Amino acid sequence: MDKLVISGNRRLEGEVRISGAKNAALPILAAALLAQTPVAVDNVPELHDITTMLELLRGLGAASRWHNDTSVEINATHLNNPLAPYESVRTMRASILVLGPLLARCGEALVSLPGGCAIGARPVDLHLKGLAALGADIRMEGGYIHARARRLKGCRLVLDQVTVTGTENLLMAAVLAQGKTVIENAAREPEVTDLARFLVKLGANISGIGTDVLEIQGVESLGGNRPRYTVMPDRIETGTYLTAAALTCGRIRTTRTCPQILDAVLEKLHEAGAAIDSGPDWIELTMSDRPRAVSFRTAPYPAFPTDMQAQLMAMNCIAEGVGIITETIFENRFMHVLELRRLGADITIEGHTAICSGKNRLQGAPVMATDLRASASLVLAALAAEGETVIDRIYHIDRGYEHIEDKLSRLGATIHRIEGSSVPC
Ligand code: UD1
Repeated sequence: MDKLVISGNRRLEGEVRISGAKNAALPILAAALLAQTPVAVDNVPELHDITTMLELLRGLGAASRWHNDTSVEINATHLNNPLAPYESVRTMRASILVLGPLLARCGEALVSLPGGCAIGARPVDLHLKGLAALGADIRMEGGYIHARARRLKGCRLVLDQVTVTGTENLLMAAVLAQGKTVIENAAREPEVTDLARFLVKLGANISGIGTDVLEIQGVESLGGNRPRYTVMPDRIETGTYLTAAALTCGRIRTTRTCPQILDAVLEKLHEAGAAIDSGPDWIELTMSDRPRAVSFRTAPYPAFPTDMQAQLMAMNCIAEGVGIITETIFENRFMHVLELRRLGADITIEGHTAICSGKNRLQGAPVMATDLRASASLVLAALAAEGETVIDRIYHIDRGYEHIEDKLSRLGATIHRIEGSSVPC
C-alpha cells in the first residue's frame, strides 16, 4: 500500500490548477449510458474512481476511449449486459449511479446492493422507492437489486431526505420515462446541476435546474450529433487547497475553478482570518496570521458541505480558540478525529459534534487514512505539523485528489510517496 510522507511546517505559496469534479464526472459518465450516439466528456479527472466507472461501463457494453489526459469518448450505442457486479460496487459506492440509466435505457438493471461504508450506513432506499414509483418492479436477489420496467412512467416524487446520488439516479431514470416527472426536495448540489445540464445537452427536457424541484418531460431517445460536455471544476478540491493555504499561513491561487459554488466554505475561511479575492475562474487566499477557529454545521447545498468538514477541522486543530463542528449528513464521519489526535490535536466528540481547542503546534506522527476526505484532513494537518508525518492507506486519497503530491510540491510542500506492494480496494 502506498504511503505519503510529509515534512510539515512549510508555508504554501503559488498557483494550483483545479481538476474536474469527481462527483460530477461520475454521474455524467453513468448518464452516457442513456445516449444512443457517442458522447465526449472533457475535464474528466484522472482518478481511481473514474477508472472504476469506465471499467463498469465497459462491462455493460459501453466502449470508452481517452483522447488526451482529460477527455473521454463513450459509445453506449450497443449495450449488451445490465449487470453491475459486486466487485465494482464494493470498490466504489457511486457504481449505484448506473441503476437509473440502465433501467431507463434497457428496461432492466441488475446492480449489486452497496454494503455499509466507513462514514455511515448509507442506504439506497430512496433511490429504490423513487424508481418503484416510476413503475419499476424491484426485487432483491442474492445481494443484487434487480429492477425491471418496460418503460418507466413519469410521476411526482417527494424525497424524504435530500440525497445527491438518489436525485441523480431518479433524474437519469426520468429523462426517458413516458410523460412528466416532478422531483421535489431534490438535491441542489452543483454536481446535480452539472448532470442536468449534460442531460439537456443529450436532448433531455428538464426545468428547475439548480432548484429543489426538478421537472422532467420524458423524451423517446437521447444522443444527438456527437454531443460534447465539459465537467465543472471540483469545489471540494478547491476548498481543500485553500484550506491548506489557510493552515500554513500561505498564499495560493486556485485556477480553473468556480468561486460561486463555494460560498459557505469561503465564508468560514474568511471568518478564520483569510483574505480572499476572486475572479471569474480563480480564487486567491492569503492568510497572514494564525487562523481563528470556526464553528459550523454540515448540511445540504448551499450550506456547508460535509465533504469539507474534516479539512476545516484540521484547520481548527492549530487555530486560535475553540471550534465546534456538527455533522448532520453522515452518522460516522469523525473517523479522522482519532488520527488527528495522534498529531497532538485536542478534540472531544459529543454525539454528532466535535469540539476542537486549537493548539500552537501539531507534531508529526504515523497516521492512517480511513476515507477520502478524512485522508485530506490528515494531509492538511501534516502540512502544518512540526516534523514528519507518514500517512498510510492513501489509496483513499487517490480516489478523489488528482496528482496531490505533485500539486502540493509545486506549492512548496515537502511531500513524497512511498510505493507499496498491494493496494486493496
Ligand atoms: C454524495 C457524494 C458524497 C457526499 C454526499 C453528501 C457522490 C458520488 N458522493 O454521496 O461525496 O458526501 O453526497 O453531500 O456524489 N440516504 C438515505 N437513503 C437513501 C440515500 C441517502 O437515507 O436512499 C441518506 C444517507 O445515508 C445520508 C444522507 O441521506 O445520511 C445524504 O446522503 P446522499 O446525499 O445520498 O450521499 P451520496 O449521494 O451517497
